[in-house]
Amino acid sequence: MLNYSMVFQGTAFTSSTPKEVKILKDNLFCINGEGLIERIVSPANPEYQAILDTYLHKENFHRLEEGQYILPGFVDLHVHAPQWAQAGTALDLPLYDWLNSYTFPIESKFADLNFAKNVYEEVVHTLLANGTTTALYFATVHKEASILLAEICAQKGQRGLVGKVVMDNPDQTPNYYRDVNTLTALTDTEEFIIAVKELGEKTKQGVYPVVTPRFIPSCTNEALKGLGELAVKYDTHIQSHCSESDWEHGYVQDRFQKNDAYALRDFGLLTEKSVVAHCNFLDDADADLFAQTGTAVAHCPVSNAYFANSVIPIAHLHSKKVEIGLGSDISGGFSPSLFDNARQAVISSRMLEDGVDKNLPSTKRGVPNSRITINEAFYLATAGGGESLSLPIGRIQEKYTWDIQIIDTKLPTAKLPLFEEKESLEDIFQKIMYLVRPENIQEVWVQGEKVHSRK
Ligand code: GUN
Ligand code: FE
Repeated sequence: MLNYSMVFQGTAFTSSTPKEVKILKDNLFCINGEGLIERIVSPANPEYQAILDTYLHKENFHRLEEGQYILPGFVDLHVHAPQWAQAGTALDLPLYDWLNSYTFPIESKFADLNFAKNVYEEVVHTLLANGTTTALYFATVHKEASILLAEICAQKGQRGLVGKVVMDNPDQTPNYYRDVNTLTALTDTEEFIIAVKELGEKTKQGVYPVVTPRFIPSCTNEALKGLGELAVKYDTHIQSHCSESDWEHGYVQDRFQKNDAYALRDFGLLTEKSVVAHCNFLDDADADLFAQTGTAVAHCPVSNAYFANSVIPIAHLHSKKVEIGLGSDISGGFSPSLFDNARQAVISSRMLEDGVDKNLPSTKRGVPNSRITINEAFYLATAGGGESLSLPIGRIQEKYTWDIQIIDTKLPTAKLPLFEEKESLEDIFQKIMYLVRPENIQEVWVQGEKVHSRK
């Protein structure tokens, strides 16, 4: 019974429901050799002292210092790894122009594996340092460079879900950046899936291939159909963009006389393992379809502010039982931090809401009951992401993976404003969510392995 591979002692925060955060105060977290949480023992448990006495002086015992707290590692449900090279630029352009004048040119450079290696090593490192333990990545159309991204995730210990991007439609892609043809788009994807599956099976944390039609405009009907079949054949995750901007949404309407959701469904691309990004222009039938098929939404609040001038109604989608997680959408979103994106998710939802005071008449400016709390944004960044990917991640709970970030609130150079001697843990949690900077992230662990340390 007392044969754990590690024991941590400290206070952790985890979502118990989308709206509620559970506080595990001074608990013992007992981790097994596979990097899973085997037991969580509270001080009220009669066995607490015996476990503590057994592990206290061992090397595999980790006691958090005063002012340090455990959060689950973040799950970034939508991130374009190659776009790290242009993060923070050109955000004044609309989506179509941004893709054609900035993004496709930079992504085309990933034919060069040296360039790819430099960018991919940095982006994986940066995300880990920002507390992101699992990331659902778009790479580029290049098979070799996409495999390289999966290898870098494997080496650095991040749980990477990686897609070789498919863009085979000559009408909507530039000559210099496109799959050679539909057949090679599909055979390259299949070879990519086989290579990354083999690689992922050798990792402790798991690295997975993802079927990735970039978005409907960039793909032919044959490619979309073939990709749906490959996802079934290899039981992979699927990712794409969906109903993102007025231009893109209108394009799909013209081509198929339906919304993106139903078009993706018709090609077999909506499954329990699908994640679609943005979804600014969903109607209720689309939302019902997502709930029925188990398709998850990657909410990208920073990016949506720029490319869609829009806020998705998270509270409404949750009420329709749609799974939702949080995405940085680097570089449509400029920040690699899901803390930043969680903050923006709350701010954007407040701007969507109507009525400053429930006792006053509606201002008719927005949608009633749209606001989400910081607890819900935390849920999106952690447990919601785990559920979206159907993986046991994103919660501090028995049988879940030990994917955590240790937050230091007392760092001299980035101290949180904690002045009262006995500030409530509820308040400390909110201060962490609103005020933490990357410097406060002391250590990051994935599947029981330390993958980042600030020291
Ligand atoms: N739609 C198609 N490609 C992209 C992309 O790279 N970023 C965003 N935000 N939307 C897209
Ligand atoms: Fe995107």
